[in-house]
Amino acid sequence: MLCPTLAQRTVHQSASVSIRHMPTRRVILVGAGSFAEEISDLAVSAGLEVAAWVEGLDPDAVDASHVPPIVWVDDQAGWQPYLAILPAIGSVKRMGIVRRLVGEGRRLATLIHPSAVVSPSAIVEPGCVVFPLVVIGARSRIGEGTVLNRGSLVGHHTDIGRYSFLGPGANVAGKVVLGEQVFVGAGAVVRDRIRVGDRATLGMGAVVVADVPAGVTVVGVPARPVVARRGPTE
Ligand SMILES: CC(C)(COP(=O)(O)OP(=O)(O)OC[C@H]1O[C@@H](n2cnc3c(N)ncnc32)[C@H](O)[C@@H]1OP(=O)(O)O)[C@@H](O)C(=O)NCCC(=O)NCCS
Repeated sequence: MLCPTLAQRTVHQSASVSIRHMPTRRVILVGAGSFAEEISDLAVSAGLEVAAWVEGLDPDAVDASHVPPIVWVDDQAGWQPYLAILPAIGSVKRMGIVRRLVGEGRRLATLIHPSAVVSPSAIVEPGCVVFPLVVIGARSRIGEGTVLNRGSLVGHHTDIGRYSFLGPGANVAGKVVLGEQVFVGAGAVVRDRIRVGDRATLGMGAVVVADVPAGVTVVGVPARPVVARRGPTE
């Protein structure tokens, strides 16, 4: 008999690299920068074909000769509309463009790398990207469009809001509540039961031992506020 960890992982692997809600294994990436390169490799290593990248910030980045082609956001609607999209912008500001494309009829794909360990009772909402070696604990919820970068840890009963980002090696303990568009820097640690407001930023290496209000950036050990952030659309 397999030990529980291995059994759990095996069960997960059978359902993973999971591109849900889509009829084909082709996807469109939302983003065309260096983070898109990262997501593209992740998708390809998971057996997907990336059909195009959608650029929404820099019109000069549009390039039909790029492989795959880089399509401007205003022109994407009629372009293979049956293909689902995968967020590929590192900034939490990706919410605006991804929600726009969903409003124009795109479905969200979900990518979970096969080396990630996702508790069977956890919920990973559409549009999430779960990198290699991530661990998600029991009864946790990962909100729509959230990116969990490599090796990040999510404790049990933790709730992460939409379009948030956990940097590499971030460690969010149990029963934590993160709002939407929260950015957690690389290696940051969040104590159990902490609440972090929408659009807050936790600096790399921060040790968060007190609640963080919406829009506030904290750094250090223990984490203290440094500067109020601008809103995501500014
Ligand atoms: C917290 C953060 C967002 C602040 O960025 P910023 O708004 O540009 O702020 P600055 O770099 O001007 O730094 C402001 C002050 O905080 C300090 N500071 C910045 N980040 C810090 C950190 N992680 N820990 C401790 N102090 C930090 C700076 O030294 C500076 O201090 P000073 O005013 O005494 O000189 C950024 O430093 C950070 O940690 N980003 C996360 C990066 C990351 O994890 N990336 C992963 C990508 S996959």
